[in-house]
Amino acid sequence: MPVLKKPPLDKTESKGSQEAEELPKLPVPPLKQTMDTYLQCMRHLVSEEQYRKSKAIVERLVMPGGLGEMLQQKLIERRENTENWIHEYWLDDMYLNNRVPLPVNSSPAVTFARHNFQDANDHLRFTANLISGVLDYKTLLDMHALPVDYARGQLSGQPMCMKQYYGLFSSYRLPGGNKDTLVAQESAVMPEPEHIIVACNNQFFVLDVVINFRRLSEGDLFTQLRKIVRMAENEDERLPPIGLLTSDGRSEWSRAREILMKDSTNRDSLDMIERCMCIVCLDAPTGLETNETNRALQLLHGGGIDKNGGNRWYDKPMQFVVGRDGVCGTICEHSPFDGIVLVQCTEHLLKYMKSSPKKLVRADSVSELPAPRRLRWKCSPEIQGHLASSAEKLQRIVNNLDFTVYRFKQYGKEFIKKQRMSPDAFIQVSLQLAFYRCHRKLVPTYESASIRRFRMGRVDNIRSSTAEALAFVKAMVDGKDTVPDSEKMDFLKGAIASQTNYTIMAITGMAIDNHLLALRELAREHCKELPEIFTDEMYLISNRFILSTSQVPTTMEMFCCYGPVVPNGYGACYNPQSEHILFCISSFKDCKETSSTLFAKALEESLTEMKDLCLKYNSKPQTPVKEKKADSQNGHRT
Ligand code: COA
Repeated sequence: MPVLKKPPLDKTESKGSQEAEELPKLPVPPLKQTMDTYLQCMRHLVSEEQYRKSKAIVERLVMPGGLGEMLQQKLIERRENTENWIHEYWLDDMYLNNRVPLPVNSSPAVTFARHNFQDANDHLRFTANLISGVLDYKTLLDMHALPVDYARGQLSGQPMCMKQYYGLFSSYRLPGGNKDTLVAQESAVMPEPEHIIVACNNQFFVLDVVINFRRLSEGDLFTQLRKIVRMAENEDERLPPIGLLTSDGRSEWSRAREILMKDSTNRDSLDMIERCMCIVCLDAPTGLETNETNRALQLLHGGGIDKNGGNRWYDKPMQFVVGRDGVCGTICEHSPFDGIVLVQCTEHLLKYMKSSPKKLVRADSVSELPAPRRLRWKCSPEIQGHLASSAEKLQRIVNNLDFTVYRFKQYGKEFIKKQRMSPDAFIQVSLQLAFYRCHRKLVPTYESASIRRFRMGRVDNIRSSTAEALAFVKAMVDGKDTVPDSEKMDFLKGAIASQTNYTIMAITGMAIDNHLLALRELAREHCKELPEIFTDEMYLISNRFILSTSQVPTTMEMFCCYGPVVPNGYGACYNPQSEHILFCISSFKDCKETSSTLFAKALEESLTEMKDLCLKYNSKPQTPVKEKKADSQNGHRT
């Protein structure tokens, strides 16, 4: 959701955590309402026989005095006793229990505009400037001086929970055998000396940013970065690319970490990484064309071991990539915060960099600053084996990703607003149409909806493949030549209204996914076996999100992207701008059913047809205008 920064109205308002305490708690939706919505969402996505079976299961669950009532009561008690009844269940389910490798499968990336670095010093000056911005932002966080975000778009004006911001530079995702742990550094009374880890040539260096109680200036940072690059170039000192281990499956990485931890040198190195503010990856040039798609790919997976795949540490929430070839951006470990918070922080940094005067920062040739320290690793043959296997797995991830950045240039959200429609709902319906065009069916779809209006709120799901969306896409594709356009327009309006209503339901805490998840987890805690609703095929289908979508808007030149969440799925991240819409479409090459390029093409056709329908019927619904196109350059028409 776009957020608006307002100047703080009073002292308490600027204090993110205090504000959060004042926000309402997330409500618990009525049981019957959730179950009815669940059936309604799934009816048209499964066979009639499956639906009847699942409906009977739901009816048994909600019977008066039945299991459903007991679980709902437990949930109401949980709401009383916790700050946010879904937070822990959701975090575990969405991230910490998930065993898949983080690159592509979990960690989103934000790609910046390409930079044109004149020379090596220019590259490092930019990096020093970026680190300076991080330190500036961290100071705001430490002082709890970040202005509160206010919702825009649907139900605008409400304050949003700021808690996620405090995890940006002080948390770490520790791998575990069955489950990871999100470690949050509590702010100590006496803050520790702060440091950043710089990755260069797959080597890791400790860059202290406070030395002798003084924060390093940009010039100092530049000097230190130059020393790091020189040290990293020294072939004799080069150590194995340990960062690769963090790109492996979480259980595999956890096993490797246990082995590493047996040695005190490794323990010290891991400790330095786990306690750092963030990682800065000075990437080597890839030799590839630096178009949008290739830049995003570098961020999503680093291009494998031959490129910058080992120059990463995926457990750390914020990794800033600054490539010598101008490929720059952020990769984030997703568990502590959502994409909107990531973008807000990133935009702050870029604005800081834009506003800081373009001074030619000089390196101090006789710098008295102690040289940054290279982190040492003792690699047993067992670790070497793990490294080889991690490298191979990462290469498979790299080879398997089918990804494209697609800019739809005919129109953007201003055109849609002029149609008196919600741009987000319109785009969601276009994604459904594109999917139907490619696959002749609709599938369970995830659209993240922010619930930051509530204390410790993260997201719930807008299930965009509504029955009304299906009616619309069928009319457009199957009924292309038989259904009159005026009826297609009615179906479009119905689909948009349904999507908009679901959105409002979700952002007001009344959607079904979090509720169902909490009931399932409570059943695990209180019942001998899992109730049949949670083992039923329809429930399992409902949780395989073949289409995983998210709106991540930006106000600066950058875009967010991520991978699919199931093997036969698509990731579709979009960034609506006034006059165009940017889509990042991902899928897997080894799935024969999917193709990101074909999906992007279908999306273009869908958005074009939807525009044509609107131009024909929406401006003056009673009297369709002639076929002649309105200004197709800007697509505007009132
Ligand atoms: N007629 C004209 N204008 C309309 C309209 C209508 N019928 N409906 C909405 N608009 C306007 C809105 O007022 C808003 O205007 P603004 O840009 O001036 O503020 C604009 O269109 C956008 O609104 P809309 O497209 O409806 O969407 P939204 O901005 O409310 O976003 C969600 C909807 C679901 C994306 C948002 O609520 C959300 O939850 N975002 C978070 C997503 C997220 O978490 N992403 C990261 C996941 S990691």
